[in-house]
Amino acid sequence: ARIELMGAPIEVGASEPGALMGPAALRTAGLARALADLGHAVGDLGDVVPGCAPDARGLPAVAAWTRVLSARVGESLARGALPVVTGGDHSLSLGTVDGALRHCAGGGRPLYVLWLDAHADFNTPETSPSGNIHGMPLAALCGEPGFDGLFPDGPRPRLDPSRLHLFGLRSIDAGERALVTARRVGVTDMRAIDEFGVVAPLRRVLERVAAAGGHLHVSLDIDFLDPGIAPGVGTTVPGGATFREAHLIMEMLHDSGLVGSLDVVELNPFLDERGRSARVLVELVASLFGRRILDRPTPVIEAV
Ligand code: ARG
Ligand code: MN
Ligand code: MN
Ligand code: MN
Repeated sequence: ARIELMGAPIEVGASEPGALMGPAALRTAGLARALADLGHAVGDLGDVVPGCAPDARGLPAVAAWTRVLSARVGESLARGALPVVTGGDHSLSLGTVDGALRHCAGGGRPLYVLWLDAHADFNTPETSPSGNIHGMPLAALCGEPGFDGLFPDGPRPRLDPSRLHLFGLRSIDAGERALVTARRVGVTDMRAIDEFGVVAPLRRVLERVAAAGGHLHVSLDIDFLDPGIAPGVGTTVPGGATFREAHLIMEMLHDSGLVGSLDVVELNPFLDERGRSARVLVELVASLFGRRILDRPTPVIEAV
């Protein structure tokens, strides 16, 4: 499928300013070129413009972004393209996942979400200790109360929490921990990754999506990565995924053929060191779209 890049320079969902420069930094780091070099048809559709005043704040501003991003992602999928939305803080996924949900509901396909993130992003306005909306998108998408007016009016397909998988989790607030447990959200936390590695847990997720004939939406929060390789984010948490774990995940996602849409979020170039984090993200996205070390699949080692 043709890859359609869209920038979502939103930062009203975060407390640390700077994420609105994320899409520009990823362009500078050569995202479109890296994908084109792999032989993909790539279009950069530019930055999405929300229908709100530039100084709008809080839920009304996020609602404006949600509407336009949902529509843009829906149009891209309807064209048969694969939308890649670069941010921008994680509240942008309210729009991208909503757009993917509507597209999939129309086509009778289940939507699965793989959330690569240090955080659960499952707070509600009630449970959030910070009030930052980038810590809330999954609760809103799954239909928790407290988000009136955020989504377009009328019936809305909800994200089924059992089709959501949090991967890389290592920071969770008390209220969201209770919700994640109660809603039976799938979780591979850092404890599990330390114990089992990334391959076995991810394979299970991918097998479920494949068996259901699902569309997989991947939401990559840069704080999933260890701050040592990706310092350019406002919410670093120690003990993140290594360069090699992250690449392996991307390669497995590519080989699965299941990924239908992608977010790359929370890059804050103001906090970065000489473009390092932007470059790492470009490398990872290239792996997700088929860059490999040799021009052949990994050789299978016979079990002894
Ligand atoms: N749990 C914290 C909060 O709700 C941090 C959320 C961080 N989210 C993110 N997308 N970086 O404020
Ligand atoms: Mn489709
Ligand atoms: Mn996040
Ligand atoms: Mn995060």
